[in-house]
Amino acid sequence: MDCAVEARNLVKIYPGGVKAVDGVSFCIRPGEIFSLLGPNGAGKTTTVRMLSTLAKPTSGDALIMGHSVVREPDRVRELIGVVPQDLTSDDEMTGWDNVYYQARLHGLSGREAEEATRRALEFMDLLDVAHRKVSTYSGGMRRRLEIAMSLVHEPRILYLDEPTLGLDVQSRRHLWGLIRALKKRGKTILLTTHYMEEAEELSDRVAIIDRGKIIAEGTPEELKARLGGERIHLIVGDPRGAEELASQLSSKGWRARAVDGEVIVTVENAARALPMLAQFLEKAREVKIVKPNLEEVFLELTGRRLREEEPIDSFRYRIMTRRLRR
Ligand SMILES: Nc1ncnc2c1ncn2[C@@H]1O[C@H](COP(=O)(O)OP(=O)(O)OP(=O)(O)O)[C@@H](O)[C@H]1O
Ligand SMILES: [Mg+2]
Repeated sequence: MDCAVEARNLVKIYPGGVKAVDGVSFCIRPGEIFSLLGPNGAGKTTTVRMLSTLAKPTSGDALIMGHSVVREPDRVRELIGVVPQDLTSDDEMTGWDNVYYQARLHGLSGREAEEATRRALEFMDLLDVAHRKVSTYSGGMRRRLEIAMSLVHEPRILYLDEPTLGLDVQSRRHLWGLIRALKKRGKTILLTTHYMEEAEELSDRVAIIDRGKIIAEGTPEELKARLGGERIHLIVGDPRGAEELASQLSSKGWRARAVDGEVIVTVENAARALPMLAQFLEKAREVKIVKPNLEEVFLELTGRRLREEEPIDSFRYRIMTRRLRR
């Protein structure tokens, strides 16, 4: 089998006409970590929901280990573990009971369910807090618990929809280590994120998704190589000034473009190019040297930032933190 997960021209139009996913195709190979990287509203969750049989595609299909999400949803559900973007654990129950309950839902007998619960909690570094109420967990523990819940039936394929949303750097890194360990145990992982560091750190391959379409796909290295060099950002402040500076630079043969108040100059080697730009630097209030990264790739492709406006859906975040704090 070439693809563990194969999306074939998936389209989702919500009632009211929002085209959330607009012809998405990709192939996730067995054992790889594949990321969908994109900003708010790009269609990541909708794609995951179609791949999980939770939302019906308007058109197109997806094959999970060869089984169609449209025609064989029950079979597909046995093969996958899903960690949704919104938390699903019950915070009035203990971590242990949440996971055990999932195991029973998957049809495991009492003894099997206990064994599966212990294994999943141990794997997610949660055994020592297993008998505490979830309401006492930190955000990171709670995210780890959600993953433990998705592992009890030993799925070969795991979908993680923004698994580190809202977590601090340390908890995020801890979770990254555990996700890598899952890959080592042979899981195939689909990850969605709008954190470019996360996609870069974890993924074998990344698909950049924007407005329902995949606009680029490859290994992080391949995607970064498309930039053709390092970047110097001249932060001007006002968009008109940036436009003017960009056209001045272009007329002198520099690769320059203006993006909301900044001029982005692409050069082979920033340290060597900077002195040659000296006469232009006084027009900028700040100068930044940026090594190639996926944020820059997104900017190059769309003229917009990955993290523009609100970094995360504020409504969802409020709900999430309310549940975390309660
Ligand atoms: N149930 C729904 N009904 C109508 N429109 C929806 C529904 N769910 C999502 N949408 C819209 O579909 C588009 C894609 O949303 P989706 O949640 O898939 O994006 P996302 O990439 O997961 O974004 P986020 O970073 O906010 O999680 C958005 O414009 C969103 O407002
Ligand atoms: Mg989402």
